[in-house]
Amino acid sequence: MLRYVTAGESHGQVVLAILLGYPAGVELSTEEINLELAERQKGYGRGGRMKIEKDTVKFLSGVRLGRTLGSPIAMMIENRDWKNWQEIMNPQPGEIKKEKIVTRPRPGHADLAGALKFAHHDIRNVLERASARETVARVAVGAVCKTLLRHFGISVFSFVVNIGGVKTRVDYQNLAELRKRAKKSAVRCPDPETEQLMTRRIDEARERGDSLGGIFEVIATGVPIGLGSPMSADERLDGQIAQAILSIPGIKGVEFGLGFASAELYGSEVHDEIFYEPVSADNKSPEGKLDGHGYAGGFYHRTNRAGGLEGGMTNGAPIIVRAVMKPIPTLQKPLQSVDLETKQPFSAAKERSDVCAVPSAAVVGEAAVAFVLARAFLAKFGGDSLNELSRNYQAYIHYLEER
Ligand SMILES: Cc1cc2nc3c(=O)[nH]c(=O)nc-3n(C[C@H](O)[C@H](O)[C@H](O)COP(=O)(O)O)c2cc1C
Repeated sequence: MLRYVTAGESHGQVVLAILLGYPAGVELSTEEINLELAERQKGYGRGGRMKIEKDTVKFLSGVRLGRTLGSPIAMMIENRDWKNWQEIMNPQPGEIKKEKIVTRPRPGHADLAGALKFAHHDIRNVLERASARETVARVAVGAVCKTLLRHFGISVFSFVVNIGGVKTRVDYQNLAELRKRAKKSAVRCPDPETEQLMTRRIDEARERGDSLGGIFEVIATGVPIGLGSPMSADERLDGQIAQAILSIPGIKGVEFGLGFASAELYGSEVHDEIFYEPVSADNKSPEGKLDGHGYAGGFYHRTNRAGGLEGGMTNGAPIIVRAVMKPIPTLQKPLQSVDLETKQPFSAAKERSDVCAVPSAAVVGEAAVAFVLARAFLAKFGGDSLNELSRNYQAYIHYLEER
């Protein structure tokens, strides 16, 4: 089974990812992975740290002469900031100056619960790992998964639809255009007018010493029907995607397709009707199918209110996932908290921080969906090499054509 682990503290030497169960024979490009890492670093509203880092990946194992071996793929991303933190983050036995010990938990962060749970007196022992710096490893894993998915015409992209209440409407008619516009935007928003309003809202929050959250959307196109399974709770793909997205720091809710809005509608307004056109050599893609559809034989939908998932399986339509991110917890504006050692109240410490990281979280969400899809794809089609996987996939496509 495809799986990964990450390691590394925010101001430690490196962030690491080890990806296991990835097939042999896939060509991987360091440049492509670096482009994804750069996307995560971008975004209006990010703090000073991203000016220091310039994330690049180094393969330590699992890749030879540019191709995967089928062995664990180890990837390393260096923390440039480490040079400023060597003393504080030194792995060797020793002590640090008393004033460098963090004893003031930030409301909304992992500080208080983590320090009590792990019995730490220095909150840094928790916050270094709870920090979203770890998500750089997830993006590297996601990029490697995207490379695999691309062989089968599956593509994943993301955009921002709401920052601090400034919202945009999404036109799903032309997904390629949506993707292009979002990538060009400083806040990953496909609409330039809304983008302006969003950046202004971020400036306002910064001036107030405050922070903002928002909503992003991830779309996966070209996904064939039948990934995931309703046979066991843990095999349902919607559940797996929700877990992967909710595990991103700061994410507080996930919905698919119409999502929460469906609570107010009739069933007839929610469910996507099913159509059929026989597949022939010159008609592999029946008229009326949705932009970005994946292979489902001659069966198709004209609407996608389900967000591409029914019964915990893909239904051939694009997967549409939306996630809400809460405002960043580290604020310049003081919030009430209590010092762990003195037990005295104080106003939460000012630290370097992002004001808004929704565009970056969208990139991490994209990686999360890519990983879950690659895992589901491998679970369905198996194979130790790309060739074997392709043969199995083609056999399924052939079967769907014959239905
Ligand atoms: C890309 C990204 C960047 C983030 N940057 C910051 C930051 O600069 N400061 C901060 O306090 N929280 C930041 N967060 C959010 C915290 O990591 C998160 O709120 C914290 O770990 C507590 O987890 P929870 O919000 O899920 O409860 C960021 C999250 C993401 C996804």
